[in-house]
Amino acid sequence: MRFIIFLFFFLCFSCETKNNKVVSTISKSGMVSSAHPLASEVGIDVLKKGGNVFDAAIAVHFALSVVYPSAGNLGGGGFAVYRLNNGEVGTLDFREKAPKLSFRNMYLKEENGKLIVDDNKSKLGHLASGVPGSVDGMVTLHERFGSLGWPTLLDPAIKLAKNGFNITKKQSASLNKVKSSFQKVNDKPISFINESKWKENDILIQDDLGNTLSRIKTDKRNGFYSGITAELILKEMIDGGGIITKDDLENYSSIWREPVIGYYKNHKIISMGPPSSGGIALNQLLKGAEMLEVSNYNHNSSDYVHLLSEIESRVYADRATYLGDSDFYNVPQKKLISSDYLSERFGTINHLKTPSNQIKEGDIDLIESEETTHFSIVDKFGNAISVTTTINGAYGSKVVVDGAGFLLNNEMDDFSVKPGHPNMFGLVGGEANSIEPNKRMLSSMSPTIIEKDNNLFMVLGTPGGSTIITSVFQTILNVIDFNMGMQEAVDSKKFHHQWLPDAIIIEKNTLSEENISLLKDKGHTFIERNSIGRMDCILIKDNKTLEGGADKRGDNVALGY
Ligand code: DON
Repeated sequence: MRFIIFLFFFLCFSCETKNNKVVSTISKSGMVSSAHPLASEVGIDVLKKGGNVFDAAIAVHFALSVVYPSAGNLGGGGFAVYRLNNGEVGTLDFREKAPKLSFRNMYLKEENGKLIVDDNKSKLGHLASGVPGSVDGMVTLHERFGSLGWPTLLDPAIKLAKNGFNITKKQSASLNKVKSSFQKVNDKPISFINESKWKENDILIQDDLGNTLSRIKTDKRNGFYSGITAELILKEMIDGGGIITKDDLENYSSIWREPVIGYYKNHKIISMGPPSSGGIALNQLLKGAEMLEVSNYNHNSSDYVHLLSEIESRVYADRATYLGDSDFYNVPQKKLISSDYLSERFGTINHLKTPSNQIKEGDIDLIESEETTHFSIVDKFGNAISVTTTINGAYGSKVVVDGAGFLLNNEMDDFSVKPGHPNMFGLVGGEANSIEPNKRMLSSMSPTIIEKDNNLFMVLGTPGGSTIITSVFQTILNVIDFNMGMQEAVDSKKFHHQWLPDAIIIEKNTLSEENISLLKDKGHTFIERNSIGRMDCILIKDNKTLEGGADKRGDNVALGY
């Protein structure tokens, strides 16, 4: 009987339109959308066992640390936004922290009497790492909300690490691409380096990582922040010239924070506040979209792209000046999202691009990478969780902790290492996001949950560095203003303006030649990218079914049951 019901649901709900471009995953009870098929499977198994979204999130996170090493992690950090079925909402901040021995000018060097940025140090190697927060984050989520036993949630990841898994084509290409960087900062053998080139379906076995996960399974927090794992991290720091200390590891703790809440056309937007810039910026963007009535224009028409770009550039200019870790810097949150302030801010937008002499140009070296990871989960109880985690760039600092098998982040680059100096995503900043011991670096990660008429409506998020906020913004507009389904909204082409550089960053083939020349007439210039974002989202449809949206730009998969 069960099988027949399953078959019925599978046939009815697995695909919407096969011949059409949009193929979406629809289900009744629960849904997991993540960056890797094996991680989504792990999550669905937990939900089927009766676990809730927190149980599934923990299992998915640890599975991603194995099967998605470019971004899934033990050595990084992130944010979780949740909504319980009774409407209670909250967020957990498990962002990395600057080590106690860090200091403001640590990435500057003197040359000809001038302080210049020693660029590589905040990106590659041991000095680039903040104190990891992910393991503490998972333990903290479990202690408060977990319903299944902790060991059960680690087992799938341990199995994947020990037995190995088949890498995807995209993963083989990405591992081959970073081989020389791995070699620069690791003098011991690591599982990510193969003698010959990696190929699709090669098996990646990670024994050391499996052992670290087993220690976390047994000793939870202490399996990472003290004992053998901590000793291995400290040894790695000493050998490689890093500055993370025993105290840094012992003192790391995640923080429950109030979400940033805003409204867009009667939808309630629940997102992440500082040290993420996501929630505040998203609120500003949506207020701008409402004030300028952008839904009156055709989707991705030249006028639409112009207006959104003008709104976005103003929001990113505010981000650069006013946003940082609110535990260290007085972020003027209320003012930034107040209607009075924003009507003045967006009131200057007209049909022409704001003259470029009002915008300083930076020396930009933008990185095209999607190496953070987001997952969205809804369970049969109606709870939802939206989690974005990162080690920053692809494979973080590229340093694998010898004997422990996991990569350390290069999150220190998210600080403003020198006022006005662009980080790897071209973002600039100043005092608000300067380096201070124990401070959290400003993030763009924007895990978000949306309510409509007091009911759960959408769960969404993405990697993409600076483009995260604008991808989430445009995906929300795609669904609310342009009536797209979840998969269609994810598939839809994205563009992005971040104030500096003074250009619209755009996915290939987003705009017709005609629209491009109309925008050029208004004064815009363009930087083309192969892709923007790797969204993992869930939409709750009117008939209460769940539609998953998993980004085809990556190996992402939404699974339902
Ligand atoms: O927290 C942040 O904003 C960045 N560390 C996110 C990095 C990211 O999304 C990498 N992918 N492009």
